[in-house]
Amino acid sequence: MKKPKPLVEIAGTGRFLPDNVVTNEDLAKSLNTSDEWIRSRTGIRERRIAPDDMGAADLGTGAARKAMRSAGVEPGEIDVLIVATATPDRLLPSTACDIQARLGASNAVAFDLVAACSGFIYGLTLAEGYLTAGRGEVALVVSAEKMSSIVDWEDRSTCVLFGDGGGAAVVRPAGGSGRGILSSHLRSDGNLSELLVRPAGGALHPMSHAALDEKTHLVRMKGREVFKHAVRNMAEACDHALQAAGLTPDDVDLLIPHQANMRIIESTAKHAGIDMDRVYVNVERYGNMSSATIPIAIDEALEKRLIVPGSNVLLVAFGAGLTWGAMALRW
Ligand code: UT7
Repeated sequence: MKKPKPLVEIAGTGRFLPDNVVTNEDLAKSLNTSDEWIRSRTGIRERRIAPDDMGAADLGTGAARKAMRSAGVEPGEIDVLIVATATPDRLLPSTACDIQARLGASNAVAFDLVAACSGFIYGLTLAEGYLTAGRGEVALVVSAEKMSSIVDWEDRSTCVLFGDGGGAAVVRPAGGSGRGILSSHLRSDGNLSELLVRPAGGALHPMSHAALDEKTHLVRMKGREVFKHAVRNMAEACDHALQAAGLTPDDVDLLIPHQANMRIIESTAKHAGIDMDRVYVNVERYGNMSSATIPIAIDEALEKRLIVPGSNVLLVAFGAGLTWGAMALRW
């Protein structure tokens, strides 16, 4: 199979996690749940929860600084700053502009991207397009998610699933050695938007006393249906991305799936034809950090040398929208 020539590559990565660890046992003290239920249904053991005074921009800036250091990039060199977040600190202006100010990335164009858990793969694909069009030399893609701020802590069917964190990557034009993004397959289906939604707080249903009372400003999810679509669409996205990259499942050194639920991860790996010993999993430690799960997993896998120069890496994600996508990279 002919392999495409990468146009851009990831030049550095970083992650930032709040220190505060909340275990399943901690949650069971105030919620009608149990460690046994959460572990057996999701694989999650604990998650990080940011303190009240730490927002999405803090999580994103922490990760971005590390990614810039690992890429050897100064703030003034960043041409485009893309921030994927489902939990912006404020509805206006963008969290990207707040992160830009903190970094001192004064030459960058900065904007938020709303694609929920698929946001990092969407962001890398946008960065690829921006740089390939010749609009700049350095892109910074950041995922910053304070999921604890948008879940209903009295709803056991959602709050136990999520955690907070930030991840980031510096993207540059490919050096010609064959490393970089080989393929990207992105999809969305707005007909399924009601499966995972925050109904109030936006323009249609602005914040009101009624919204607060009914908690319609918080996440609502039809878990079983989301599960079904996640499994089907992630499997299909893996197939498309591998085919476009000229790779077979056997060529994949590491699959990094979105970390929402261990059962979804196992099912995706099975459909993709990739054994679990080639799948990166950290859902037990962090829960679902929406778009931040994938860059955090990449950064950890690099540190553990599960990704080394020459590795073929497959990313796949799924989230509210619905949105989903997969990306093949050569490291
Ligand atoms: O990033 C993408 C976002 N979301 C996802 O990927 C989520 C996809 N969905 C899932 O991961 C699963 O559907 C869940 C983990 C959310 C739920 O697992 P499930 O096996 O689909 O359980 P269920 O919703 O069908 O609930 C089964 C039972 C219910 O009780 P009854 O009606 O059978 O008596 C729930 O009330 O489990 C109950 N339940 C709980 N029990 C203890 C729901 N949440 C909890 C809980 N602790 N935390």
